[in-house]
Amino acid sequence: MSGFVGKLPFFHQLPPNHKKKTEEIVRKGESDVELGSVVMGTGSTANGDQIDNMKQPLPFLFEFTNLYYSVKKPKKIMPLPSLPSFNNRLASDTTTSAVDLSRTKVLLNNISGKAREGEIFAVLGASGSGKSTLIDALADRISRESLRGSITLNGEPIDSRLMKTISAYVMQDDLLFPMLTVEETLMFSAEFRLPQALPASKKKARVEALIDQLGLRNAASTIIGDEGHRGVSGGERRRVSIGTDIIHDPILLFLDEPTSGLDSSSAFMVVQVIKKIAESGSVVIMTIHQPSYRIISLLNHVLFLSRGQTVYSGPPNGLQNFFTEFGQPIPEHENPTEFALDLIRELEYNDHSSGAKSLVEFNSMYQAKVSNPAKPSYAASPLTLRDAIAASVSRGRLGASMDEFANPFWLEVGVLTKRSFTNTKRMPELFVMRLGTIMVTGFILATIFWRLDASPKGVQERLGFFAMAMSTMFYVCADALPVFLQERYIYLRETSHNAYRKASYVISNAIVAFPPLVFLSLAFALITFFAVGLAGGSLAFLFFVLIILASFWAGTGFVSFLSAVVPHVMIGYTVVVAILAYFLLFSGFFINRDRIPDYWIWFHYLSLVKYPYEAVLQNEFDSSNTCFSRGVQMFFGTPIGKMNETVQEKVLAAISQTLKSNLTATSCIATGPDILKEQAVTQLSKWNCLIVTVAWGFLFRFLFYIILLLGNKNKRK
Ligand SMILES: Nc1ncnc2c1ncn2[C@@H]1O[C@H](COP(=O)(O)OP(=O)(O)OP(=O)(O)O)[C@@H](O)[C@H]1O
Ligand SMILES: [Mg+2]
Repeated sequence: MSGFVGKLPFFHQLPPNHKKKTEEIVRKGESDVELGSVVMGTGSTANGDQIDNMKQPLPFLFEFTNLYYSVKKPKKIMPLPSLPSFNNRLASDTTTSAVDLSRTKVLLNNISGKAREGEIFAVLGASGSGKSTLIDALADRISRESLRGSITLNGEPIDSRLMKTISAYVMQDDLLFPMLTVEETLMFSAEFRLPQALPASKKKARVEALIDQLGLRNAASTIIGDEGHRGVSGGERRRVSIGTDIIHDPILLFLDEPTSGLDSSSAFMVVQVIKKIAESGSVVIMTIHQPSYRIISLLNHVLFLSRGQTVYSGPPNGLQNFFTEFGQPIPEHENPTEFALDLIRELEYNDHSSGAKSLVEFNSMYQAKVSNPAKPSYAASPLTLRDAIAASVSRGRLGASMDEFANPFWLEVGVLTKRSFTNTKRMPELFVMRLGTIMVTGFILATIFWRLDASPKGVQERLGFFAMAMSTMFYVCADALPVFLQERYIYLRETSHNAYRKASYVISNAIVAFPPLVFLSLAFALITFFAVGLAGGSLAFLFFVLIILASFWAGTGFVSFLSAVVPHVMIGYTVVVAILAYFLLFSGFFINRDRIPDYWIWFHYLSLVKYPYEAVLQNEFDSSNTCFSRGVQMFFGTPIGKMNETVQEKVLAAISQTLKSNLTATSCIATGPDILKEQAVTQLSKWNCLIVTVAWGFLFRFLFYIILLLGNKNKRK
């Protein structure tokens, strides 16, 4: 752990004495500190007290002042959804000049507040009042250029990078791998977000402690589940979701409606868990819909919003007094938050243009009265923010790895690969379905093209078989599209808080996809190669397997690239099917390369089917020992071919005489290489075709990476 503290970029800025002591503390802590206290974050240990005595850090105070955020009203509604990134949720507007003022919509207007360590700060309001927008603004998910006002922690502004390492944002949707158990899900999250320096036993202990803290002990070995597989309950899933985000023990925790969709007792349990997390030393800010009495008792501060403006900010028990002074006392036995929300709705309804303006104005007067302006909002701490974080780490806070990513690249790839394998291993249906498709296609092809002979007709049938077989590989890959799309959301969520690098995801994606492809290739080759009677023996068979594998590799690369570009399954399928049809059209089977018009020739070279198709043709026809057209067979497909054999022999004799060559019924007219020439397969050798196919696979994965890099800024503008 000392290495880990050494990695803190600000650590060297500490006074030498302090630095030495902290290192000592942490090193000792590795053996002394019980993880139970580690999990509790603020758990003061004997070692921790040394630093406390030196410089007692104040509890964390998260403060935001006069936040203002507006968007341009969209001119027209786009009919199609675009890339799955969060940055296009809102249109941007950084200027609010008089000219376009009429076209701007103010989503946050002058919002201020203070959230303290150990407390829950809740944001309430009707639907559309701006709760999620406020949480987004606070969690640094709105770009700083668009947002006005200040956001500070312990009086210091927080930059984006620091925010990512010390905060967690729990989204409303539970995006989890369905076939992993609760424990595995949390363990993988721990492996991503806790630094490598932390021994595996401590990561495990952290997960176990978290399972207890989240009340998930009974469900620890149950799978998460999905529509097709029964898994944990909705409330448990919610808590797992929260667990995956707080595994690194964040200082700031943002939650958007953590209780939505839960029954009242599950909702209460979730808020209880959140309260425990706050008490273990975090600042918690969350939005919540209609909290019950019991939940209100757990909240420390409530902020009511109406159309982006504050209508009340203070402790929940101050609501009574506030509304009494406003002239609308809360009736006894009425839930104060429900009363407040109803009143706000009523005011908004009655006065459509200015909304709850009277309440907003009353609130600013009320706030001025109750707050004490003489008292500074944050008593100057002897420690800077970074020192305070370091002190918090030294007292046992876990994960605050100050590096951009907690783990090195190779470790991320390893963990991601392990997770995907575990998940796919438990969903064998997918693989079985693919294998089934391949085998059925193989079986149909094998029986249709059963034992082809070496005649001109046989040659034509072989060409048909190859074109069909090689394009099948690509069509089969298309079924991975929904899987990729589903996973993409988990990926977006995880990379938004730097759980791992995007490149690690792309690489592990390729690693996981590969082994099943080997089985599929072997299965297809075994079913078809011998049944169709392809030439070349065992070496050619091996090449046949390799080129099928390469086609699968290129095909899955192509589909994963497409899944990053198109956001929807239906659009995805349409695009894949259309493009594959074009690939086949331009592969050289329907029309030879030398017959394709110049203005389309570029598509021929882009066709993924072209290369494997040419490769298998060469694999089949590269030997000049086999003759595919003898004597009168040369008339096949011509009007002479339809005449009787004696006539054909006479024509052959006439030709022979004219050419002064000795053509007999057994003379070989066309061998394999002649067929290749006829098909215009002359440019690349079969091995080069194999290399090009493999290279396509790599190229698409690289493009996939580029799209991921460009696509996810994860911020509103
Ligand atoms: N791009 C945009 N252009 C115009 N208005 C927008 C845009 N994006 C969001 N809004 C509006 O901002 C307001 C606040 O949205 P927000 O998602 O913060 O509401 P909310 O309080 O979280 O609601 P809910 O409880 O339903 O989640 C809504 O009225 C919404 O319609
Ligand atoms: Mg919302």
